[in-house]
Amino acid sequence: MIKWLRRFAKVLLGLACGLALIVGGLALWLRVPPQPAVASAQALPAGFIWGVSSSAFQSEGGDVDSNILRLNKKSVGDKDKPQDPYGSSVDFRHRYREDIALARDLGVNTYRIGINWARVEPRQGQIDEAELAYYDDLIKALKEAGIQPLITLDHFVHPGWVADQGGWSNPQTVDEFVSFVRLIAGRYHADVHWWLTFNEAAFFMIGDIALRSPGLRGALAIRRNLIAAHRRSYEAIHALAPKAMVSSNIVWTGDTFLSRLAQCLTDWAFLDSITDRLDYVAVDYYMSDIRGSSRGHANWYPDPPGLYRALRTLALRFPGKPLLVAENGMATENGKPRPDGVRREDALCDSVYWLQRARADGIDVIGYMVWSLTDNFEWGSYTPRFGLYTVNVMSDPALTRIPTAAVPAYHSIIADRGVPPDYRPVLHLRTTAAAKQPGKFP
Ligand code: BGC
Repeated sequence: MIKWLRRFAKVLLGLACGLALIVGGLALWLRVPPQPAVASAQALPAGFIWGVSSSAFQSEGGDVDSNILRLNKKSVGDKDKPQDPYGSSVDFRHRYREDIALARDLGVNTYRIGINWARVEPRQGQIDEAELAYYDDLIKALKEAGIQPLITLDHFVHPGWVADQGGWSNPQTVDEFVSFVRLIAGRYHADVHWWLTFNEAAFFMIGDIALRSPGLRGALAIRRNLIAAHRRSYEAIHALAPKAMVSSNIVWTGDTFLSRLAQCLTDWAFLDSITDRLDYVAVDYYMSDIRGSSRGHANWYPDPPGLYRALRTLALRFPGKPLLVAENGMATENGKPRPDGVRREDALCDSVYWLQRARADGIDVIGYMVWSLTDNFEWGSYTPRFGLYTVNVMSDPALTRIPTAAVPAYHSIIADRGVPPDYRPVLHLRTTAAAKQPGKFP
């Protein structure tokens, strides 16, 4: 009997050890972050990057032939899925000085802009000098306003002629993109310190593969080419400006089990192969549970404590690399109150609160950029509104910038270097069902 009990105990011990190994391994693999230590918000340092974030295509407007414009024109014709047309968007192409003035009045010191390859090189090998002159003036206007530009070189968009040659599945695209990067970096490296090569490359990759079904070999070629293009662009910028800060921003998928699995997949797709070519880690944070992304934008729950967890996880994964929140924001549906009751100004203040707590816990977060200064074209529609300023593109030909309540909120945050020490997060008080996300801090 005793012998039998001993054997049973051994089996149990073996099982427990096995289980502990599996759970421990999984936890490590999924990189579960610890809880925060410092309990109140502390002011952020003087050199902190306070910014607004945008992309060229989404805000510039104009009939410039590109993969995305073609796609959008195609879907406009689809009667079952009516889409808003892409016309002027918010006409940043011509109103950038007005928008820069708004950004300056907010107090931001950094403006993330995009340079649209399709605009600069509308036909293969032909550079449009007038469009380059526009970007020259945009950068000049930013500098005059005391705002440093952060440039994204590829925010999902490439010229129509690149699409014709198979887009990123064609290795030739890598050479052509790197030439474009050399042109832009050569022109602006004296004025621009911060660079992003690809916006959310893994998500672009997944979308592009789903759209064009290039087969397994084609899909692997897209991955290989995007990785090569980042690595070579990184080298090209550094050859011109050794001290430049170059990265490629990732999207945070969340920290539920499924979200982390998705993150592992997207990391494999791109990030894992470029970590030695990142001067800082740039992250776009919109939610903490990837399942939320299948609901409409106005139902993406912004879960500000999740921003803390994201920063903590990234700090553990990339010791020694500074972290930048390259995009954070929330959408309404055409400016209507959200179904979960979350207000833009509350989401903003709470997010900055958790950012301050991350910083106070020793996480090297160097900046925060709101997506976006104004509403813009949300890849097929103007309905999701992310702007600090609303613009009713579909109904207001004057494209008036109308401030939301988040404008004074961001202004105070920047002036005070964060929310005050006695600030307490409000979202969990205001929201109901949607706020009951897994993994929230008390
Ligand atoms: C993209 C933006 C987009 C935003 C909101 C980000 O992932 O970089 O282009 O507008 O999400 O959907």
